[in-house]
Amino acid sequence: MTAQSHIYAVGKSTNADKLTEAVVRGKRLWEKHACVNCHTILGEGAYFAPELGNVFFRFGGREDPAGAKEAIKAWIASQPTGIEGRRQMPNFHLTDAELADLAEFFEWVAKIDTQGWPPKDSG
Ligand code: HEC
Repeated sequence: MTAQSHIYAVGKSTNADKLTEAVVRGKRLWEKHACVNCHTILGEGAYFAPELGNVFFRFGGREDPAGAKEAIKAWIASQPTGIEGRRQMPNFHLTDAELADLAEFFEWVAKIDTQGWPPKDSG
């Protein structure tokens, strides 16, 4: 079974043809760690932390995709910052492979044509 066959059997409204096993694993990690309890993704979720549907582009993914993914991985791995007065993200003790899968997931999500949604970069 291919990655996409059991996820999007019908419809063409997402870039399902670009789904890879890494993207699927990243999505599962997103669910397992309940990232959505603090973040929105494509406008859905909680409003404690930044929108992440566009985080790949905000980290420079248009100009340097590989660099953006490395930066996202490093960012997640280096939390919490402990900076006073700043909201904190827990450390999830993810492996390098898991971080890479999440970065692939963020690249995939960023490339969905949402027709400009959410209207602000910050979600
Ligand atoms: C308890 C709340 C919480 C959870 C759960 C959480 N985060 Fe965060 N996250 C934050 C906060 C707060 C920030 C912003 C911190 C800052 O800017 O100093 C953040 C920022 C980020 C950023 C950087 C966003 C940017 O625009 O700079 C990424 C990437 C990220 N989180 C990924 C994840 C992933 C992946 C998960 C799940 C594995 C997750 N987060 C779960 C609170 C959370």
